[in-house]
Amino acid sequence: MIVDPQIVEYFRNIKQVFIYIIDKCNLNCVQCLYKPNNYFHIGRNYIELDMAKKLIKYFYGLGARKLTIMGGEPTLYGEEEARKPLLCLIEYAKEVGYEYIRIDTNGTFEIELLHNSQFKLLDEITFSMDGPTAEINDNIRGKGVFDKCVANIKEGVKLGYNCDITCCIHKGMIQRDSNNQLYLHKMILFAEQMGIKRINFHDLFKSGIPRDMWTGSIEISLEKWFNVWAEIQDNIKRGCYKIPVRIPQGFVTKDRFDKNSKYYGYCSAKTGDRVLIHPDGILRVCSLMIGTPYGIGRFYDNKIVWDKSGTNELESHNMEKFTPCTNQSKSNKYDPFLPVCVSFKPQQNEFAWNQLEWEKNRKE
Ligand SMILES: C[S@@+](CC[C@H](N)C(=O)[O-])C[C@H]1O[C@@H](n2cnc3c(N)ncnc32)[C@H](O)[C@@H]1O
Repeated sequence: MIVDPQIVEYFRNIKQVFIYIIDKCNLNCVQCLYKPNNYFHIGRNYIELDMAKKLIKYFYGLGARKLTIMGGEPTLYGEEEARKPLLCLIEYAKEVGYEYIRIDTNGTFEIELLHNSQFKLLDEITFSMDGPTAEINDNIRGKGVFDKCVANIKEGVKLGYNCDITCCIHKGMIQRDSNNQLYLHKMILFAEQMGIKRINFHDLFKSGIPRDMWTGSIEISLEKWFNVWAEIQDNIKRGCYKIPVRIPQGFVTKDRFDKNSKYYGYCSAKTGDRVLIHPDGILRVCSLMIGTPYGIGRFYDNKIVWDKSGTNELESHNMEKFTPCTNQSKSNKYDPFLPVCVSFKPQQNEFAWNQLEWEKNRKE
């Protein structure tokens, strides 16, 4: 491929690739930040297999070792050809040398897919679930989704797949059952019972960024967030859970940030540890730029070019300084708290976080 030197220089510390292989999805989740991509295209809504192969190989050459295949719903990629393109991509990524390949799915695919030998090459299947009961989950993800996903998780676990769950923290998750148990806590126990290896949470605050426009009204207040965050952190410290729990911190006080700005100032746009590849031909770094024209570069034909225009997402960042999340802090309605990166999850057991040895930056 013909690649601009700025791309090579910028991605010198790349650890992982997220390939959004197809924008189409069979669900319409309330919180989905990907909605604009799912519904509007003027061109194709997927990345051609040849191009996908070239891109993942290229970024492997720069140093990426973890690959996430997502979308849209990645199990719809090449659906009309019995998913051969998806299976070829998984196999090819292994041949190239990726050490960790995962797929991020809504878990509604036909169960037979789990029996496919190429699919079995995956190092992880991440199932997205937004509640430990059908009622809570399906309010967000759609009727009948809970049962389908649970059936696939059970089969996946039985077949020996490394299964994880990703869950968004929405209003339903901070409610309590009749025994006063927080659904967020119950979600972790549910994952454990299912044989899940690790659970990862996403927060859904509306902080003056583009995704606020098309995600539903299910976000929670800061006060409630601090309470449930403290409760779950306390449970983790007391060893209540058998599996690792990755939970975002969300915010930090100014004082604490100033004392340890290197640690709290984690920002993938500054570390250049990841690339997000999208069917619209845009390469992005920050997931908060999804659905916008902003990115770091573009790919087409046999080229990867640096975005030299006003849509380069780095324009807003002070690359020399550790700051709170640049994108979320523009209209900081959470003052006196400062927003940290949505991927800032203290002490998380995650490939890129470990590779960057980010925990070593922690002072307290
Ligand atoms: C966009 S989906 C695409 C992959 C697949 N269709 C799925 O459901 O997992 C990837 C992950 O992003 C999460 N997600 C969706 N909207 C989000 C938002 N507004 N903020 C944070 N995470 C979000 C989903 O719950 C899911 O776990």
